[in-house]
Amino acid sequence: TPTLLEDYTPPSHELTSVYLDFDLQPSATSVRSKIDVKRLRDEPLVLNGENIDLRSVKIDGKVLKRTDYKLDQEKLVLAKTPESFVLEIETVCDPSANSTLMGLYVSGGRFCTQCEAEGFRRITYYPDRPDVMSVFTVRLEADIATYPYLLANGNKIEDGAVSDKTGRHYAIWHDPFPKPAYLFALVAGEFDVLEDSFTTMSGRHIPLEIYVDPGNASKAEYAMDALKRSMKWDEQVFGREYDLDLFMIVAVRDFNFGAMENKGLNIFNSSLLLADAASATDMNFERIESVVAHEYFHNWSGNRVTCRDWFQLCLKEGFTVFRDQEFSADQRGGAVQRIKDVRALRGRQFAEDAGPLAHPVRPNAYMKIDNFYTATIYEKGAELIRMLKTILGAERFRAGSDLYFKKMDGTAATVEQFIACFEEASGEDLTQFMRWYEQAGTPKLKVLRETISQGAHRIHFMQSTKPTPGQSEKSPVVIPIRWQIVGDNGALSEPKLTLLTGSGTSVTYPRIDEPYSVSILQDFSAPVTLETDATTDDLLRLMGADPNAFNRWEAGQTLARHLIANMAKAIETGVTPPADTALKGYCEALKKTLDDPDFNNAFKAFVLTPPASSEVMQSLEQVDPIALHEASKWLSRAIGDLLRDDLLDRYHALADTHDFRPDARSAGRRALRNRCLALLASRQDPLAATLSQTQLSESTNMTDELAALMALTRLGGQRVETTMEDFYTKWESDPLVLDKWFSVQAMRRHADGVHAIEQLTESSRYQRNNPNRVRALVGGFAMGNPELFHRIDGSGYRFFTDQVLDMDSRNPQIAARLLGAFEIWKKLDDRRQDMVRGELERVIASNPSKNVLEIAEKTLGA
Ligand code: ARG
Ligand code: ZN
Repeated sequence: TPTLLEDYTPPSHELTSVYLDFDLQPSATSVRSKIDVKRLRDEPLVLNGENIDLRSVKIDGKVLKRTDYKLDQEKLVLAKTPESFVLEIETVCDPSANSTLMGLYVSGGRFCTQCEAEGFRRITYYPDRPDVMSVFTVRLEADIATYPYLLANGNKIEDGAVSDKTGRHYAIWHDPFPKPAYLFALVAGEFDVLEDSFTTMSGRHIPLEIYVDPGNASKAEYAMDALKRSMKWDEQVFGREYDLDLFMIVAVRDFNFGAMENKGLNIFNSSLLLADAASATDMNFERIESVVAHEYFHNWSGNRVTCRDWFQLCLKEGFTVFRDQEFSADQRGGAVQRIKDVRALRGRQFAEDAGPLAHPVRPNAYMKIDNFYTATIYEKGAELIRMLKTILGAERFRAGSDLYFKKMDGTAATVEQFIACFEEASGEDLTQFMRWYEQAGTPKLKVLRETISQGAHRIHFMQSTKPTPGQSEKSPVVIPIRWQIVGDNGALSEPKLTLLTGSGTSVTYPRIDEPYSVSILQDFSAPVTLETDATTDDLLRLMGADPNAFNRWEAGQTLARHLIANMAKAIETGVTPPADTALKGYCEALKKTLDDPDFNNAFKAFVLTPPASSEVMQSLEQVDPIALHEASKWLSRAIGDLLRDDLLDRYHALADTHDFRPDARSAGRRALRNRCLALLASRQDPLAATLSQTQLSESTNMTDELAALMALTRLGGQRVETTMEDFYTKWESDPLVLDKWFSVQAMRRHADGVHAIEQLTESSRYQRNNPNRVRALVGGFAMGNPELFHRIDGSGYRFFTDQVLDMDSRNPQIAARLLGAFEIWKKLDDRRQDMVRGELERVIASNPSKNVLEIAEKTLGA
């Protein structure tokens, strides 16, 4: 039975303080809790618990008999409680056998925890819901030799040797800020610590500590730098100051997702924390910067103000993603950041919103909340906050945010309360805006131009949203549309903001005596798909002259999407496509951008990157995915052919002249240079092979090394196997680089097809329990190797499903996430649809976890 938003009831008991005592042993850790409880209503106290052994329950010091409580696989229920009492519970769990990586587990010989969303119940019996907040004091005890560091939330108030047990030590931590259980964390083990400090705006001195595997401290320097910049930025831009006396980050190797914002003790997947020039790419540095910021920003948007229930997840995630996007834009440049964010949104969220797993930014029902850490909650959630800022303007937006943090501080809030603060601060009525949170599906914005009397013009804006599962009727949402008239030499009008609130509206503008086009949805002012009457000439004009850099890029993407889609149809139907004049115009426009000194290299690299075939797929009804992939390769080859000399010149001109720096400018230079190399490789240019070989052997940074490796695998040939082996040997001792090796393996063209991937999963190099490795190989295969995954003999789907089921037996969250790869199945041709349906039915019949079952059934539409 699903959990429903409408069933929410406030907690029956208040926990005024919580004391936890951990006796840490890898295979039998005992947890004793002592909780001051106040009854709020005359109802039973429900304590969640999973996979733990209950040893004893006491109320006010008296041991309860088995008949005094109810116990099942998921909860402990105390039917009758005093009005105010002390509850004591003792449980035992086995962290070393915990392969779900939720609750308390062991990674690389160290204890760590992951409690969001519902992992705390694997540690002790507790009202594991975000609206139950309490002040925690935590005592940790462990062997001093194996676990020299004992960490928990808040400030350390005591530590020392355990007097009656030799070789054991303890530490006591106190977190003065009331928090829900999902923000609890502990870590114990051996680490190297990178130390630094930050002085807050009110002059408080905060030690900063990053804990990493021994020998890796220097790889945390970039994260530390990003942390300090984040702390400063949140003070300057949102007025948020850090509150505890200490801030810690710990990097672990086995982690289900990116990172976690536990109060004062963030825990990170090491792939999002460790970096140096030799082993990390520019993209890694960039992600580290944004995730460090994201988790830090949660201290206010998430921790100081948390969520009333998990339906409100976007309250903290959408807002915090928006905050980290704004931070990255300030660090690295607005247009480029917007392009990255929109690419991510389109690639993942639009696909989700158009498929069987579509759900509103605030869902109203779920089976497993783990399945709702989605692109819709995060990325679309962030877009809603961005629209709010666009609609209100920067000043009123900041006033609303200030009011929210002031008014809701220390509470577990709802989306309504959040929006009400912006209404109060701005005087704006945001009733209709709420619809964005309730309605799933990407609205389509249709734009038509019309000539009216005296040559004046009118633009019609119309919106519609297709039905999504469970929501057949859609109402209009408020769409902020930024637009501007553009001639061959740039702006012919000021940019305007039109709010479309009903199903349609129109605007007029006076006669213009020169050729012009309309730049619509500048900076992607709303998360919608666009259907316009723009001609190829319009798109070419915008590519060359739009004053809005984002829309310049966007015009090129639109043109490329048409080119790829047309070619895919031609390949599928077997007719040769007519020689395309649009292609020539497109490439000329690319060349103009490449030569334009007004744009930076990072921007140019994006302009030279056509949309991925997965993105083009969304604009099509049904398609043969291999034909689509061929079409997308065709376009890259065509660009390579038509711009060959320019790409070569540029490749040489952009060569490195100084030591590696991870800053945006240097990264942009590498991005464009490697983009040129990739385009040359896609035309199978023999020179590209030579250049790649040289770059592979001479480069001193992973960005260039990996780009060369990928170009070589694209070029193919007999040397690929030895090149891959050499790379593996070189990096054998660095698991994060080996993940990259596995991704390249997952996505490349193997002579013996799916079998090659299968062999990799069986090799001793693979680690089937490590989520990063599984994502690299199995995820990389499903999302990045259309030729093998979509094999018409079904071997790709079958192998993939086997892997998902295998994973499900150990880690249901990761398995369910992987299975999401089938969400696009209704876009496939009939034959492939039949095969995917068969696989989904096989999953359901195999008695999978609740996580996997929910995804399989929804994907199937059952
Ligand atoms: N709150 C974390 C973050 O976004 C992610 C937690 C993910 N939890 C999950 N069950 N998937 O920073
Ligand atoms: Zn988050």
